Amino acid sequence: MTYRVRRAWKHEIGECADLYCQFFPGIGRPSSESIWWVAAHGDEIAGFASVKRYSGKSHPDSLFLSSAGVLAGHRGHGLHKRLIRARLRWAKREGITRVFTYTMPDNAHSIASLVACGFRIFVPEVPWFEDCAHCHYDGALYWEKFLS
Ligand SMILES: CC(C)(COP(=O)(O)OP(=O)(O)OC[C@H]1O[C@@H](n2cnc3c(N)ncnc32)[C@H](O)[C@@H]1OP(=O)(O)O)[C@@H](O)C(=O)NCCC(=O)NCCS
Repeated sequence: MTYRVRRAWKHEIGECADLYCQFFPGIGRPSSESIWWVAAHGDEIAGFASVKRYSGKSHPDSLFLSSAGVLAGHRGHGLHKRLIRARLRWAKREGITRVFTYTMPDNAHSIASLVACGFRIFVPEVPWFEDCAHCHYDGALYWEKFLS
């Protein structure tokens, strides 16, 4: 199967947000400030991901990788890693020096993708979820990558 990983077109953002709500029920609609990427399979969205600039007190000027999702029939083709790398390339072009995210500790696929993309676990000195309503999960693992 051939996929193209790219920024979402404007008309695709609503579908991305709907998919996000299906994948991650109970945490509300994603922020309107989110910037979206898709893994496109023809006209179909096979995967989605977003970023949000983070201006919280604990980590100014960082970029938060919001949860990504790959539809079941399209998993195992490296799309998650491609969606991570596309966002890292964009972050670098934007002059961002630190990218961070979280996973739940039992999400082996997601952890494998982050490790493959060079992320390392960190323990926040100040819990950054204090000013990030979407990130408040007990037991979450926190991941960061510095861009040079
Ligand atoms: C997590 C998710 C995005 C992965 O998508 P994907 O496109 O299939 O992922 P990729 O193909 O890029 O990579 C999957 C990685 O998991 C690994 N993997 C696959 N099955 C695995 C398993 N049973 N145990 C451990 N690792 C596994 C793959 O080998 C690959 O790692 P590698 O780079 O070392 O080879 C997808 O499963 C998903 O949408 N899950 C539900 C939503 C979710 O959990 N999102 C992430 C929230 S942070």
